[in-house]
Amino acid sequence: MQWTEFFGALAEREPDDEFATGRPGGLSPDLADRIADDIAQKLELNPDDTLLDYGSGPGVITRRLAQRVARTTASDTPISILERGRTAGGEIDWVELDPGATDPPWTTGSFTKVLSYNNARTYSTHQELRGPIDTLCAAVAPGGTVLFGDIPDRERTGQWESGERGRDENRTVWIGRLERRALDMERDARNMTEFMARLQRLGIEPPKEFGERHPGFMRDVVTRIFRENGGEVSVVTQPLDFPNAHTCVDYVVRFQH
Ligand SMILES: C[S@@+](CC[C@H](N)C(=O)[O-])C[C@H]1O[C@@H](n2cnc3c(N)ncnc32)[C@H](O)[C@@H]1O
Repeated sequence: MQWTEFFGALAEREPDDEFATGRPGGLSPDLADRIADDIAQKLELNPDDTLLDYGSGPGVITRRLAQRVARTTASDTPISILERGRTAGGEIDWVELDPGATDPPWTTGSFTKVLSYNNARTYSTHQELRGPIDTLCAAVAPGGTVLFGDIPDRERTGQWESGERGRDENRTVWIGRLERRALDMERDARNMTEFMARLQRLGIEPPKEFGERHPGFMRDVVTRIFRENGGEVSVVTQPLDFPNAHTCVDYVVRFQH
């Protein structure tokens, strides 16, 4: 099963909203609130903003963000995801993405804030990232911001696995990380085992990469693609208690022109 089909099947057959976005440990209402708060802060959302959530899934996080801005557009590919999102309500315009189309279904530069969250795991090579990143950059208005969030990070994954000290950002929490490391790895493995059993009960076979750890993308390469699009990049961490904080980073990208 391909990634898109997989997420489409989840939206169709997984009755529990917590597991419909494909996070092995689930997305509880409390976690969704905290992720939305973190995104709103990093994007500096304000009531005048027009927000695009690219690859929104059924909109569990989008709905929380929509309350803070003037207008919200959610976009995804499988129809089952759009239907589930529309049914769940919220002041959101739902837009279908056609993977075969050359142009996106919105006007260039029409959003002050653009989000893509927890989507990059579906890409395995840096080259595959270029298309989606170009799309995000084309969608944002001059002076706007893109948040490319929850992105598997090679450096962070390596540090976590080796217990290495790493960059300044890690120093203050390094001891805490080492203490939590064994625990979190067990948690990840347990969540994945339980989620696989859940998928089997639903008759959904995930892409083979789903059960494997993503090696992570190189920050320099991701940063360069954004810079080539005119963005000014900050690589930032997630709160430590987020499920992917030990393997992922967020890219906050500002556009002056
Ligand atoms: C893990 S879900 C995350 C959904 C949501 N952003 C969240 O954080 O809850 C990944 C979503 O990304 C979408 N997706 C994957 N590849 C995509 C692409 N190339 N363009 C747009 N959406 C994509 C999938 O259909 C799926 O709904």
